[in-house]
Amino acid sequence: MSNGMSDAFVFFGATGDLAYKQIFPSLQDLIRDEGFSLPIIGVAKAGWNLDQLKARAKDSLENNGGLEQAAFEKLVSLLHYVDGDYADAATFTELRKQLGDAKAPLHYLAVPPSLFGTVAEGLAKSGCATNARIVVEKPFGHNLPSAQELNRTLHRFFPEENIYRIDHYLGKEPVQNILYTRFANPIFEPIWNREYVRSIQITMAESFGVSDRGRFYDETGAIRDVVQNHMLQVLGNLTMAPPTGEDHDAERDQKAALLKAVVPLKPEDVVRGQYKGYKQVPGVAPGSTVETFVAMKLHIDSWRWAGVPIYIRAGKVMPVTCMEAIVEFKRPPRETFHEIVPRQSSHLRMQVGPDISIDLGVRVKVPGERMVGQDVELRLKSQAVDVMPPYQRLLGDAMRGNGELFARQDLVEAQWRIVQPILDNVTPVYQYEPGTWGPDEAVQLIAQDGPWIDPQPSSADNRSQAAAK
Ligand code: BG6
Repeated sequence: MSNGMSDAFVFFGATGDLAYKQIFPSLQDLIRDEGFSLPIIGVAKAGWNLDQLKARAKDSLENNGGLEQAAFEKLVSLLHYVDGDYADAATFTELRKQLGDAKAPLHYLAVPPSLFGTVAEGLAKSGCATNARIVVEKPFGHNLPSAQELNRTLHRFFPEENIYRIDHYLGKEPVQNILYTRFANPIFEPIWNREYVRSIQITMAESFGVSDRGRFYDETGAIRDVVQNHMLQVLGNLTMAPPTGEDHDAERDQKAALLKAVVPLKPEDVVRGQYKGYKQVPGVAPGSTVETFVAMKLHIDSWRWAGVPIYIRAGKVMPVTCMEAIVEFKRPPRETFHEIVPRQSSHLRMQVGPDISIDLGVRVKVPGERMVGQDVELRLKSQAVDVMPPYQRLLGDAMRGNGELFARQDLVEAQWRIVQPILDNVTPVYQYEPGTWGPDEAVQLIAQDGPWIDPQPSSADNRSQAAAK
């Protein structure tokens, strides 16, 4: 089943953090904006009753974007609750009962991946998997073999077309904007290759630390948390070939082809860092060598990108919270005006957050008698991220059976293949001061193609100075 609307929304892990932060707010938005009206069934093992879940929904909305009375009342009128162990068949018998006449439910697994198999099996044995869609959260596996194993498990009960793997970056407006800008304009494609592009940088900086997520993070680290998924998806949008054909898989086919061409990382192309103070975060192991920062140099083995160095950097407690991708163009073959020009003078900069912006870096002449120039950025687009939240978009799409913005099995496995050789502490972890751009070793990594261009949230005015640094 790939078309048609789901007729019930079931979410496992109903009393958990993800439901609290994302699912209740998205449901309220979907009810308000799209008139969603269908049974909503929370499942958890918490010893709760329906009234407690309703109270939790209220609290969630009040603390995550605001409660809107009419939509909230509708939400609680649609809400059901099933309390029980996921390994107990009775839980699923009760769920089937609560589903009533629903014939095509959607099941959202907001639970740890270790429970995916148990829940999927319980759904299948109770008849709840028939004609159903299943949505699973990242992280999808812990490495390549576990992701493959997880895929095999889910495929025992659900066909691939009914499995929706969430990577919320795919639901972000600016991430879609990258594709739109590239493929809605004829000027980019002819220069989007090794002939014209000198290097690519993508930085995801977060000024906050790991705070209350110590336990989760210490089992994850930056490579698994954001590089394997969010950042490689952004790289895919930035470098894939133009989609052809009209079906939902057109984009994903091209992105999969691109990600399969990315050469698996070598330890010498990776620098890991850990901010000072990380080991004191509750839940973090005393001698932890988990990275809170990573910088890497990637290669894409294709006709389009061979030889173009691609740098990715992600870190916690950086100086700012901002994500940007920079495509740096080659200089003209001859500097006609005999200037010493900063190497990053010509570029396209795409900011993915906190704002959406796309800027083209060019040199223009300084008024006067001399033929000298300065770097400026032409702003192609600038917009605050005041648009549909990713989870609302993605849950709505999954309910409608549109899988375009979800990670396909081959994509997820290609992403794991890229990072697999550098997982599990095979490279040293260097300490860095909170509020800096990571360890010095990251600067050395990019030395021949650098420097790193540090992203600057909402600061159009001093962009040219940054480019010149
Ligand atoms: C999550 C990671 O997937 O993405 C977090 O687990 C990270 O560590 C977050 O902070 C970033 O998402 P966003 O939408 O705030 O950029």
